[in-house]
Amino acid sequence: MSAALLHRLKPAVSLASRLWSCKPPRIEPSSAAASVRLYSGLMEPRAPLFRQLFESESSTYTYLLADADSREAVLIDPVLETVDRDLQLINELGLTLKVALNTHCHADHITGTGLLKKKVFGLKSAISKHSGAAADIQLSEGERIGFGRHSLTVRETPGHTDGCLTYVSEDERMAFTGDALLIRGCGRTDFQQGSPQRLYESVHKKIFTLPGHCFIYPAHDYKGQTVSTVDEEKKFNPRLTKTLSEFVNIMNNLNLPKPKKIDISVPANLVCGLHDI
Ligand SMILES: [Fe+2]
Repeated sequence: MSAALLHRLKPAVSLASRLWSCKPPRIEPSSAAASVRLYSGLMEPRAPLFRQLFESESSTYTYLLADADSREAVLIDPVLETVDRDLQLINELGLTLKVALNTHCHADHITGTGLLKKKVFGLKSAISKHSGAAADIQLSEGERIGFGRHSLTVRETPGHTDGCLTYVSEDERMAFTGDALLIRGCGRTDFQQGSPQRLYESVHKKIFTLPGHCFIYPAHDYKGQTVSTVDEEKKFNPRLTKTLSEFVNIMNNLNLPKPKKIDISVPANLVCGLHDI
């Protein structure tokens, strides 16, 4: 590896080591390609392989997690329009997709779960048992979804919808919060069984009780933000730092327009965990 490249990587590697409280990835002078790949993962050796993917029309994040040894993978909140992109990456990385998880029954886009099930033999779909949506696996509080030696644990975080789930990595370093908690925001509560009181309780009892350094990965972001932490949101979230009554007042006065695709997305998402639409 050239001295110039080593110099460029140094700050990022040291940031990664601070973030993950682990030794910085070792940079082998004789193996530049391997080092750069390790750096791009920003993970300790036993951490799952992780990719954050973005769908621009609905500003949705899809998350790919996999076990580096067994190559088993899960995909959180796939979007219909980006199924081929996701499958290309999964194939390029030599992964076997086991489960397509949804954080909730989305109103702003159609999930890619049904189409993925058509294209990936043996793929299972999963969603909350309280969502009202069909899926192979109906999840509830405390259940685990395994992939290789890793797993995600289900925390029920209703309020945006009845069936909202947060998926937490086994080391509590990553939480996939769906629309329950967004970066400096949260999901709306004015349709699909929305309840600001329930959402406030969910976030405070199920997400803000995670370690402060736990990374928050939401289902959407509309400003280009990619990740936050529990500590950051506890300090700076403009809604959830308020009292319950202030929060309810904010949420009841958002006056947001209806999502453009709600009339096609919700009916489709209620069934496409079991088949393509
Ligand atoms: Fe949503």
